Amino acid sequence: MLVLWVTLLPTVLSVELLKDADFDSTSTYGGDETDGGWWCVQCDAVPSTDKHTGSHSVKVTNRKQNWGSVTQSFKPQGDHKYSFRAYVKILNLAQGKVYHSMETLLEIKGSNGNSKYEQIGTTPHLRPGSWHIVGGDYHMPNDAQEVRVYFQISEPQVNYLLDTASVEEIPHITDLKSDTSGRIDTLRKNNINIKVTNNNVNPSGLTVEVHQTSSEFGWGSAVDANDITDSQHKKYQDYFYDNFEWAVLENALKWYSMEPSQGQDNVALPEKAVDTLRSKGITVRGHNIFWAVAQWVPNWQKQLSASALKQAMVKRVTDSVGHFKGKLPHWDVNNENVHGDFYAQQLHDPDISIWMFNEAHKAAPNSLLFLNDYNVVSQNDATVAFEDEAQYVLGKGAPLKRLGIQSHFNGQPIDYDLVKHRLDEVARVGLKMWITELDIDDWNENTKADKYESLLRLYFSHPSVEGVMFWGYWDGRHWRPNAALANGQNVTPNAAGRRVKQLIKGEWRTNESHPVREGQNLRVRGFKGGYTVQVKHNGNIIKTEQFTLGDNGVDLTISLSGSGSNPQVNNILVG
Ligand code: XIL
Repeated sequence: MLVLWVTLLPTVLSVELLKDADFDSTSTYGGDETDGGWWCVQCDAVPSTDKHTGSHSVKVTNRKQNWGSVTQSFKPQGDHKYSFRAYVKILNLAQGKVYHSMETLLEIKGSNGNSKYEQIGTTPHLRPGSWHIVGGDYHMPNDAQEVRVYFQISEPQVNYLLDTASVEEIPHITDLKSDTSGRIDTLRKNNINIKVTNNNVNPSGLTVEVHQTSSEFGWGSAVDANDITDSQHKKYQDYFYDNFEWAVLENALKWYSMEPSQGQDNVALPEKAVDTLRSKGITVRGHNIFWAVAQWVPNWQKQLSASALKQAMVKRVTDSVGHFKGKLPHWDVNNENVHGDFYAQQLHDPDISIWMFNEAHKAAPNSLLFLNDYNVVSQNDATVAFEDEAQYVLGKGAPLKRLGIQSHFNGQPIDYDLVKHRLDEVARVGLKMWITELDIDDWNENTKADKYESLLRLYFSHPSVEGVMFWGYWDGRHWRPNAALANGQNVTPNAAGRRVKQLIKGEWRTNESHPVREGQNLRVRGFKGGYTVQVKHNGNIIKTEQFTLGDNGVDLTISLSGSGSNPQVNNILVG
């Protein structure tokens, strides 16, 4: 019995590795480097009853250096991976600042006694008056003997409260395919029960064919607005329609494309692309209303006064979200605002994204509004910052409805333990997520195929993820051509393109054919989505029905009474 119980335990239990992680045993703060508890290095620590959880936080003041920080060390296991978190509230702003940034820094002592320092996460927008999340994750080197974690703000005059700290080991996934397959079955599939009745044709020779025609989970790609509409690019278009049901215009809806100089209006191209895609049954995401990174802000905006800029921003919401109202169910609002703050700085308004969310929501109340950022799962530096940004704007009542995780990977090997951990970390916000810009910049098509497969399995098996968008597919039109799924004049799928299609149109689609008898219950476990079911007699279609398989499953009774050889189509929507 005990043996069974032990083997059923997950590989790693969430064991807290810090002492007094919640700062409630207030006697532990006065420690030093040697006693293993909290230590305020180059600062003073006292308990505060202004807490995030429990009874106390620690108040850190009198920081004598920019690295002055409350800190603690523990003994890690070499080659294991750890997650670090804490909540922080800053108590003051340095002059001229609208917020401060906190770095989570590790000091790792190796077997030779030398230390190396690694920054594992930066939360850029700490505002006084709110608790913010800080932290990151780290893969320990083999010879790591001791690790000390620091929570630092560059300006020593900034005092802060810290609470609800935690260091936990990140579990290792030994076999990604088997680890994900059970969750994929539970999350993405449901039961279809089919019974054929009133069979007045010959009882032998009947078959039921179940064809999945669309997927509930969103599979899509970025497209070039011109190439997807221009008849010269038929092969580019065929590849798209053959693989995907969702699209996003790579550039044409961006402010710099739609209004490259003030007053210019380039709405015709994105409008044509959106209308063309929609007419073919494709759902289109809106990307993006504003872009927080200064490099992507049109130059004309950089010269405007704060009030003129604000006026242009009001117009931008009308020209983008308002103009496409009813056509674009998603919009990225202040793109990459973990990595930039152009509008916040220009307007001296640290909460400008909340205004953006509210304006966009007014312009198209049915569009789901997103935060959208990079290095959230592909690197450790923005995971917690993104989680914090989401939690902060939600706390201020912004109509944020979904989280967009870009997912641009470089050519390095991918650590799936960390990708999964980072997804779980962001999922703590409680919102559904989309992988909005997946690409893997790997010149080797075979390793690229393996990486796409593993990532898709992880994403498809995650309960918070609703869809995956590739950031382009053709090397002739790709910001990172090595990441493409198809190459050359003929848009020929490479190993990665073939693998992706085999998964999204093969393994994760339901197409089955079964011989049936009248009154027999046929049970098919299908992937959620839209279906056509055909009853055939000796190979001829005698009845066609359509249904949608969702969370409730489908019970379908197909009456063949009166059906001769002419197909009948009934539309029923269930589930
Ligand atoms: C990129 C496009 O792919 C390029 O063609 C363009 O020159 C710059 O923008 N994050 C985003 C996307 O949100 O809009 C970016 O797209 C890639 C990174």
